[in-house]
Amino acid sequence: MRSAVCPGSFDPVTNGHVDVFTRASDMADQVTIAVLVNRTKQSLFSLDERVALLTASVAHLPNVTVDVFEGLLVEWCRAHGVKHVIKGLRAVSDFDYELQMAQLNFRLAEVETAFVSTNPKYSFLSSSIVKEVARYGGDVSGLVPDAVSDALRAKFATTGGA
Ligand code: PNS
Repeated sequence: MRSAVCPGSFDPVTNGHVDVFTRASDMADQVTIAVLVNRTKQSLFSLDERVALLTASVAHLPNVTVDVFEGLLVEWCRAHGVKHVIKGLRAVSDFDYELQMAQLNFRLAEVETAFVSTNPKYSFLSSSIVKEVARYGGDVSGLVPDAVSDALRAKFATTGGA
């Protein structure tokens, strides 16, 4: 596979995501992490913050870069000549939604999706659960890259968990 994209919201990136990026970087020559600009969904981290945290988290993977996209993923794929999406599957509960997206993206633009099975040590992990733990002062070290853990601490120190 020459190039592939790992799309998502990444609010914020977790070690489960980094595990998927690492494995994607072995499968494709060039991997782009594409961060969704979602103007309707309230995110904890701004787009710039999410990109900065991702960039710091994959600095050790030379063939992985970070970009942003708005609208349909397949339009980003078309514009960049990328025909493969790589996503992680944590559990069967992920499958219905992921299969629907994969089938739709193939129907829209013949963009193929390859799934990697998430490392079981991260199968319970999500950005939402990490935010929940950090909001109430819990320890998220080992669940997210160090830069994210620092950023969560700073974020909730200023908002007081609100
Ligand atoms: O991290 P997420 O929020 O589960 O990522 C979902 C994402 C961004 C991959 C998906 O919502 C997406 O591709 N959105 C862009 C709009 C689009 O292409 N929709 C059609 C496929 S559902």
